[in-house]
Amino acid sequence: MRKIITPASSVSGVITLPGDKSISHRYALIAAIAEGATRIRNYSTGADCHSTLGCVRALGIEVEGSGTEFLIHGRGLDGLRQAAGDLDAGNSGSTIRMISGILAAQPFASRLVGDESLSRRPMQRIIEPLARMGAGIRAREDKFPPIEISGAPLHAIDYALPVPSAQVKTCILLAGLYAAGRTVVTEPVRSRDHTEIALREFGADLTVERRTITIAGRPTLEARELAVPADLSSAAFFIVAALLVLGSELAIRGVGLNPTRSALLDFLVGMGADIRIPELASRNGELVGDVVVRHSALRGGTIDGALSAALIDEIPVLAVLGAATEQGLTVRDASELRIKETDRIRTMVESLRRAGIEADELPDGMAIPGRQKFRAAEFDSHGDHRIAMALAVGALSGDGPSVIEGAEAASVSFPEFWDVLAASAR
Ligand code: S3P
Repeated sequence: MRKIITPASSVSGVITLPGDKSISHRYALIAAIAEGATRIRNYSTGADCHSTLGCVRALGIEVEGSGTEFLIHGRGLDGLRQAAGDLDAGNSGSTIRMISGILAAQPFASRLVGDESLSRRPMQRIIEPLARMGAGIRAREDKFPPIEISGAPLHAIDYALPVPSAQVKTCILLAGLYAAGRTVVTEPVRSRDHTEIALREFGADLTVERRTITIAGRPTLEARELAVPADLSSAAFFIVAALLVLGSELAIRGVGLNPTRSALLDFLVGMGADIRIPELASRNGELVGDVVVRHSALRGGTIDGALSAALIDEIPVLAVLGAATEQGLTVRDASELRIKETDRIRTMVESLRRAGIEADELPDGMAIPGRQKFRAAEFDSHGDHRIAMALAVGALSGDGPSVIEGAEAASVSFPEFWDVLAASAR
């Protein structure tokens, strides 16, 4: 699918966005192994979260509902049944990595597959800890999907994560639910903590001390009524669009503002962004609030160290914004970007150059000088949702109509993106 994006004179109005992708995956997976029916409202409409629901169904769990509201009939820790065929994670790294933690403990074998992009993403990071816990787990060339898991009784481990990854942390914590004893995971930097919050909501015995999480095996998880906040990583595209385009004033309703995600807002405000959150509330242990953003001239800045991990999904759209700032944007310590749905360092640098923007590729990031103008051009998403949406945002500040090829990729996390963009960018 091709989308033509014309320059906007403002990005304004009041918008609502789909439910958070990270939280939706976790609620669906934990609901499946909880006792009783969990209702989830505002579930993500993205294809990735539907891959998770598809896997849960294939494991014998009844899932009622459609659109954004689902009722998941959990059958307890030991209620899953062997799938009749392969479990398909589609494009979703979260699905394949997180569900592996549960499958590792089942008294049956499973085989997990994914699309072409997912089949090139590294899985040693989950294979190694799960094997240490006692699971039988194999992958193509020892590292890529398909993954074959022969479940086994697991034992608790004390594990220091070598990479900052909330997906891997989640995988181990979910396996820890089944392990004899207390499983301990220590992170190199704090990553998003939706799993910890959700597991507590469902009644797990879990404690967090700085970067160390401890979970007790064999809890009884109880069904809950849950509502997913709007996805801050999806909101990021509209926040940046409003900051970029003169005359913009945009309000985004009910956004998830978990402190392990909201570094984005602190970073933008630190550069001079006019962003306000009139009120904060807590829902199912997650902070939620409206975000009001106005066009602002920004200073520019550096993303490195722990901040790179905290902003990892937002870096493509921040790169677009960086070129328009006074001093530009430097990104370091972000080599994880190279193993996302595409190599996002290379794809962004190449795409920015197509837009006439000077950008340097660094081994672990990129350097983009400021005060640069986005020129209209033909772009390709390379099948990566965040690349498609970041370039569309840049094109709003272009000097003519731009083309985004492969625009359908946005559906992985945000199928409504093009409609919301058409309604708010004028
Ligand atoms: C996610 C964690 C991050 C992020 C991904 C979602 C999660 O991946 O990029 O979009 O929901 O836990 P990593 O765990 O690979 O850092």
